[in-house]
Amino acid sequence: EEATTLYEKIGGADRVRALVEAFYPRVQAHPLLKPIFPEDIRPVMEKQYLFLTQFLGGPPLYTEKYGHPMLRARHLPFPITPARAEAWLDCMSRAMDEVGITGQERELFFGRLVIAAHHMVNQEDD
Ligand code: HEM
Repeated sequence: EEATTLYEKIGGADRVRALVEAFYPRVQAHPLLKPIFPEDIRPVMEKQYLFLTQFLGGPPLYTEKYGHPMLRARHLPFPITPARAEAWLDCMSRAMDEVGITGQERELFFGRLVIAAHHMVNQEDD
């Protein structure tokens, strides 16, 4: 059997794009997340598309454009509380439902995002 990446298993570029498109409207509608994101969400969506592509084992699009992700450092200007991490993950879980990311691929992908989200926490809940 050919070794395939999670990126290929979930459906490649089209599926990552669809996931990002489903995720950010939820972020912008969430009372805890909305205040910390810019009103013009398009540039954030584009960066997340590039990042998730490489996070899933696809081409290293984010690094080619922006260098090492250093995501915890890039999030330090924003107050990421445990409650915001859970909110972010909840939006992502619903976005995965919406675009039909299911099964073992979803478990693996979501599990990795849980770890990443918890790593991003830089402040206690208010
Ligand atoms: C950027 C919030 C978790 C990936 C951002 C920004 C905010 C944010 C406010 C900056 C938007 C701007 O440019 O003004 C959060 C919150 C999280 C979270 C509340 C909850 C834990 C994650 C996770 C990942 C991620 C788990 C990836 C697995 C990114 C990327 C960017 C970004 C790639 C763009 C970085 C850049 O500027 O190049 N996030 N984030 N975030 N986030 Fe998150």
